[in-house]
Amino acid sequence: MKTIYFAAASLDGFIADKNDSLEWLFKNGPTDLQFIDQFIETVGAIAMGSSTYQWLLDNMEGPWPYKVPCLVFTHRNLKKIEGADIRFTQGDVLSQHEELKRLAADKNIWLMGGGDLVGQFYDHGLVDEMNIQTVSVFLNEGKKLFSRRTETAFKIREIRQRGETCVEVVYAVR
Ligand SMILES: NC(=O)c1ccc[n+]([C@@H]2O[C@H](COP(=O)([O-])OP(=O)(O)OC[C@H]3O[C@@H](n4cnc5c(N)ncnc54)[C@H](OP(=O)(O)O)[C@@H]3O)[C@@H](O)[C@H]2O)c1
Repeated sequence: MKTIYFAAASLDGFIADKNDSLEWLFKNGPTDLQFIDQFIETVGAIAMGSSTYQWLLDNMEGPWPYKVPCLVFTHRNLKKIEGADIRFTQGDVLSQHEELKRLAADKNIWLMGGGDLVGQFYDHGLVDEMNIQTVSVFLNEGKKLFSRRTETAFKIREIRQRGETCVEVVYAVR
């Protein structure tokens, strides 16, 4: 069981543009998305920040797409979705990681983002892997992939081409 940051980013390291749009990703990213379904099969619990949750609320078509428990980090009262296992939480990610491990059982924990929330897990040494799909566009500004400075380069575990404009790299974080 691993804790994995799985996300798509621009070449200059943004996961969304400054207006929280993912238009750049849908327009330029991989078209065969089977690898995402395959990753989701390995996941037993999800953690995300409130802006990511809000994006899903505003943009998803159809029902909530995830079957596993999902911790949404927020200090606000956000709308819940009928029939989805969504648990609002806040504060120290260390104790919440214990809860995520319990919920995920022997499966992986998906850190969906954003970059500061993943940074909080990283600060506690809780991130095992980053699986980043880099799409070959520059955004110049937007929501950061990772909002920490790191001193030691992460080792590359795997590289996979995802269509003509995207490369997926799996980095070992710990
Ligand atoms: N390209 C991709 O693969 C990908 C992946 C993920 C997200 N995204 C996109 O990236 C954008 C969001 O990224 P983001 O960096 O802005 O934000 P985010 O992590 O989704 O949300 C940040 C917010 O989460 C809450 N939060 C964070 N840590 C917390 C803690 N420890 N306790 C309680 N609340 C906490 C705070 O909001 P409150 O005010 O609610 O407390 C904070 O402002 C969205 O547009 C999303 O769609 C893209």
